[in-house]
Amino acid sequence: MIVAVLFGGCSNEYEVSLQSAYSVITHMDPEKYEKVLIGITKEGRWYRYYGSAENILNDTWCTDETSCTPAIFSPNRYENYLLEETNGQVVKTMIDLVFPVLHGKNGEDGTLQGYLELAGIPYIGCDTLSSALCMDKDRAHKLAALEGVRTPASVVFSKSALIEEIIAETNQLKLPLFVKPVKSGSSIGITLVNERDELPSAVAEAFSHDERVIIEEFIDGFEVGCAILGNDDLIVGEVDEIELETGYFDFKEKYSLTTSKIHMPARIDEDLKAKVKDTGIKIYHALGCSGLARVDMFITPSGEIVFNEVNTFPGFTDHSRYPNMMKGIGLTFSEIIDKLIQLGLE
Ligand code: DAL
Ligand code: MG
Repeated sequence: MIVAVLFGGCSNEYEVSLQSAYSVITHMDPEKYEKVLIGITKEGRWYRYYGSAENILNDTWCTDETSCTPAIFSPNRYENYLLEETNGQVVKTMIDLVFPVLHGKNGEDGTLQGYLELAGIPYIGCDTLSSALCMDKDRAHKLAALEGVRTPASVVFSKSALIEEIIAETNQLKLPLFVKPVKSGSSIGITLVNERDELPSAVAEAFSHDERVIIEEFIDGFEVGCAILGNDDLIVGEVDEIELETGYFDFKEKYSLTTSKIHMPARIDEDLKAKVKDTGIKIYHALGCSGLARVDMFITPSGEIVFNEVNTFPGFTDHSRYPNMMKGIGLTFSEIIDKLIQLGLE
């Protein structure tokens, strides 16, 4: 089977994708799959890549022109071709399935999924609608709330809102507050605001990443994750827990774990763990997920579960949370890949 692995991406999580892609590529069984690597630059240019996985990891994949040729999927329905430009000639390569190892905008937000659906090329993970809904923190919260899941109190603003209006409307929310781009990943563009006079700069920062900003109440407690794999019959991984020393799980902490720790499994009792899994499944269905997702939730001091967000392509390195949560129930990295490919072809 020929699997096209997409990496990089026109996204502020480009670097995270390179790390995830290295692990996916090196764990994909060469006996079962012929890999066609496709790198997307930060500027959004697509290339078939013939070089080493190491050069993806150290982000030099695109510096050697002999390793990269411009390539794009044919948008013609069910042709399943990668069109590659070599010495002025267009070369066609058949593709059975696309494995997008892309995080954030233009990869995890439904845009790529829409392109692949238009072309009729099978791919792993959530579909267009579900990817788009999960990327949109506001709409994801609203749909989960309709299913009875508690979500943080929040207000949403578009770029046309005046800062005076934003400050006045957020007065109803108790400090501290989270100011977030509605669509972003890896905590990029997020500020935890402790005083109201910090709002203008936090709002400007969030608007530099998205057209809409969500301002949310801070949920007291700690964050847990629920890893889900499947379309209809779901496999639910172990629940993990983030222990923070201060603040929140920002970009630096996510990728360096300087002061925070990830406990896998979470240090919670079995009843609460079961509730986390049930809520994770409820959210997965409410947002129409398929393939996989990591559902992030908070647990309050009274044991209440509050929805945070869904990652439809969560971090996927050897030490990332999703593969570790699946390892917790006995699934290896390569087995997760096999399952995702089977599910993508269903
Ligand atoms: N958005 C990053 C990759 C994550 O949630 O793991
Ligand atoms: Mg998260």
